[in-house]
Amino acid sequence: MDGLRVGTARLASRNPNKARELERLLPGWSIEPLDADDYPSESGETYYENARAKASFGRALAEPDAWVLGEDSGIEVAGLDGGPGVQSARSGRDDPVGWLLERLAGVEGDGRRARYVSELVALTPTGVELRGTGTLSGRIAEKPRGTEGFGYDPIFVPDGESRTVAELGNEWKAQHSHRAKAAQALSSKAG
Ligand code: IMP
Repeated sequence: MDGLRVGTARLASRNPNKARELERLLPGWSIEPLDADDYPSESGETYYENARAKASFGRALAEPDAWVLGEDSGIEVAGLDGGPGVQSARSGRDDPVGWLLERLAGVEGDGRRARYVSELVALTPTGVELRGTGTLSGRIAEKPRGTEGFGYDPIFVPDGESRTVAELGNEWKAQHSHRAKAAQALSSKAG
């Protein structure tokens, strides 16, 4: 399809972990962080609104022939009424694991159920929008374990697993994570 063939894609994000994960998840895409001093605040009410805002911000700055990607993600915890959700990047900024374990102190059973959500938006050079969503369900462990991944990965145990995402590792994440599923959904729509 004309205009839907990917060469370079610019990722509108300050998070270097995301660029690294997405490059692995989207074979054939060359993903480079956008060179911007400031990004729009994540003030949307949904992951999609934030991902779209990042992508359109990037569209105005990126080379005209590059694709632009915006991604917004978060973690939703049952015992926090689905929070921090779309506010995830602003919660526990310096110590997400300590922040969440403290809030879940004394919470057992279903209150520790959680899911990661990732929303990806790509804008082609001609402005066509493609979108992919992915989730990963699991539960929050009592203590951190493992060294790979980032953010809440040392305390997130996916359904059907006994190890945390940080123990399962980056290879596992590339197959099964919320971001991997969003990337698969997105790339199935690209040429
Ligand atoms: P944002 O998408 O840049 O707004 O950030 C989302 C926040 O959600 C991150 O700062 C992490 O705290 C959390 N998060 C999103 N995806 C992951 C992941 O794959 N592993 C661990 N934490 C994540």
